[in-house]
Amino acid sequence: MNAVEIIRAKRLGQVLTTDQIAWLIRSYTDGDVADYQMAAFCMAVLWRDMDARETVDLTLAMARSGSELRVRDAVSPVADKHSTGGVGDKVTLAAAPLLAACGLPVAKMTGRGLGHTGGTVDKLESISGLRMGLDPAEFLAILRQHALALAAQSADLAPADGKLYAVRDVTATVDSVPLIAASIMSKKLAVGPSHLLLDVKVGSGAFMKTLGAGRRLARVMVAIGEDAGVRTQAVLSSMDQPLGYAVGNALELAEALAVLRGEGPADIAALCEHEVVTLLVMAGMARTHPQAAARARRALTSGAALAKLAEVVAAQGGDARQIEDPSRLPRAPIRREVRAERGGYVAAIDAEGVGMVAVQLGAGRLRKGDAIDHAVGLVLKAKVGDRVAKNQPIVEVHARTETDVRAARDALLRCYHWSEAPVAAPPLILGMVARRPRRDMPAHATAEAAHP
Ligand code: URA
Repeated sequence: MNAVEIIRAKRLGQVLTTDQIAWLIRSYTDGDVADYQMAAFCMAVLWRDMDARETVDLTLAMARSGSELRVRDAVSPVADKHSTGGVGDKVTLAAAPLLAACGLPVAKMTGRGLGHTGGTVDKLESISGLRMGLDPAEFLAILRQHALALAAQSADLAPADGKLYAVRDVTATVDSVPLIAASIMSKKLAVGPSHLLLDVKVGSGAFMKTLGAGRRLARVMVAIGEDAGVRTQAVLSSMDQPLGYAVGNALELAEALAVLRGEGPADIAALCEHEVVTLLVMAGMARTHPQAAARARRALTSGAALAKLAEVVAAQGGDARQIEDPSRLPRAPIRREVRAERGGYVAAIDAEGVGMVAVQLGAGRLRKGDAIDHAVGLVLKAKVGDRVAKNQPIVEVHARTETDVRAARDALLRCYHWSEAPVAAPPLILGMVARRPRRDMPAHATAEAAHP
């Protein structure tokens, strides 16, 4: 076998064999296939696509390219929850401890920010001393003892994805459904939970810009997870405006802590509850959605969910006082309000644009390896559907310098779009994708439900 043959076959639109895909990924991981050959292969996949069997083969080859943790052999059931990436998406920070406090252990290996989207590792590293670089033995020990472990993605798991992602990032080959599905699912399968909930973001601030593309990605990933023995479902949720109000690492963590105190913004709280309830029912921890919702509410009002996060933060070397008192989290020296230049109803907020303003302030990276400023970011004061008077504050900028504030102000005013007439707040949860075998469906089909 050789790489040129495989690239040519895909360029011609042929379906690759399991052996060809396994050989290519193994040889690339070992350094016998060059980055430029993988770049050509990714471009061929982007144009010619892959069928379901090829996508599963690619995912499994990538999942097996390094060590596999199989957390479900250590603790079972054990859940994971993954968002495909958005702006202001701090749901994982609240959902993971809430699930653990409800009795469902969570093994969360997670990524750093990517482009305009924030990363859970960066947000958690706002906590002084918190160690996110756990080795597998320590990750499993913390999971066993506390029913929750939070760590940065280990380089030993699915190393083919680390190499491939770096190539895709600089060759305009990120937005291919089989390549994204294999990238995300290979990392999930290498960790090996028993239950997985995927939050597939759709809209202006997401990688998938349309509901059709998001639904296709969700179906493919659910099928891959289920085929590999991981009970998997996906929620399709809107990323047409930032989630909640806070964008930026410590600001988002503080907002997630507000959710755990029962005081969070309605959209984040609703999505968090929806995801927690879905996973509790999937894992058999509750028989019905209302039962699961009641259990989640008890874990919030009793303080058990917040206490669980503080316990795990302390176990991983972090300062748990910052969980109990978020005013101890890093704070930017300058806070300035951006005021509306006109009155009216907020018709749309460019989520990707808002994410890029936060990155420019220092909350994300412009180049791989850039340091993060955990304190800076934005707090939105007006969301889609809100009526705003001229000169009313629409965003609070948390920055290091006045020059940063001025640049952010101009960019933020361009992110807001206005209407004279009232605008309805857009729906947040757009649907669910789950595999439900039905007599009229082939074995690989998935069933979808619109959110009630
Ligand atoms: N997140 C990933 O881990 N991989 C992708 O390809 C896209 C988003």
